[in-house]
Amino acid sequence: MTDTLPGHAGPTRMSDAAHDQWTPVIRWDKRNALGLRDRAVDLLEAGHVLWLADHGFAPTLAERSLLTPATSDGRAKNISFDVKRALVSGSALQGDALAALGAMLARFAHESLTLVHGLFPDYNSHIEQGLVSFRPVGVEGRASSVRKDDTRLHVDAFTSRPNRGRRILRVFTNLNPHGVPRVWHVGEPFETYAQHFLPTIGRYSPLAARCLQRLHLTKSLRSEYDHLMLGLHDHGKMDEDWQRTTDYSRFEFPPGSTWICYSDQVLHAVLSGQYMMEQTYYLPVAAMAWPERSPLKVLERLKGHALT
Ligand code: SIN
Ligand code: FE
Repeated sequence: MTDTLPGHAGPTRMSDAAHDQWTPVIRWDKRNALGLRDRAVDLLEAGHVLWLADHGFAPTLAERSLLTPATSDGRAKNISFDVKRALVSGSALQGDALAALGAMLARFAHESLTLVHGLFPDYNSHIEQGLVSFRPVGVEGRASSVRKDDTRLHVDAFTSRPNRGRRILRVFTNLNPHGVPRVWHVGEPFETYAQHFLPTIGRYSPLAARCLQRLHLTKSLRSEYDHLMLGLHDHGKMDEDWQRTTDYSRFEFPPGSTWICYSDQVLHAVLSGQYMMEQTYYLPVAAMAWPERSPLKVLERLKGHALT
């Protein structure tokens, strides 16, 4: 490690040599902000998590009453907010309380966009704001199946929304009012993970992809890229031995801090925590500073053909 991370604690399964080569989480604070600003895109696109240690989201006194699992309808793992339609789903709240929740999520959406614009100005005209999610329920005991179990290392891939290579950029913030950190494991670089699991993934079938689309199981045609990303996600989560033995580092993201990563590239797992908000963004590969570092280009290089 190049820096001592106050948020970095507990067991780690990387050899010292691996640590010297790869720092998964880059701490960013007032002391080093100037030096890091010029490198923000480089670090992000290389697959690091950018951890803004003293940049949090501050709920107002009134909003603090929204920090309870009772805001959830108990069915979904998160409450989501569609910025464009100003629509909250997955919440049990109604009336003024629901409006207050929507206002808090809208403010977070706005603040996260300002942050992303400031850090990655070259993305500005290409980035698309997706859903905000709010997770008021504790991570422990939440998963209903291995595939949905985010306590296992994975990269994000969507079952029903093919994205054909488009990047998934996520801004996370911990707003726990009781000082409880959000604990993540961050694993090996994407290419190592892809090389390990690609040989286990069956052939892509355009016919099967068309059937899924016709049955409305996918919102558009699943590309070979989506097929492979889902394969990496599922096979990685299901491989108990690999989950037990692969390298990772453990990080504790304290309340009042924010972290940003390409979650389709950074191998991650969430171990514990409660009260997190996250804003998803989408970016075309062509809008990246280094498109060749995208999962799409890495997988195309490893497979030897185009995937979308
Ligand atoms: C995930 O994207 O796997 C979940 C992250 C979190 O809930 O902290
Ligand atoms: Fe994830």
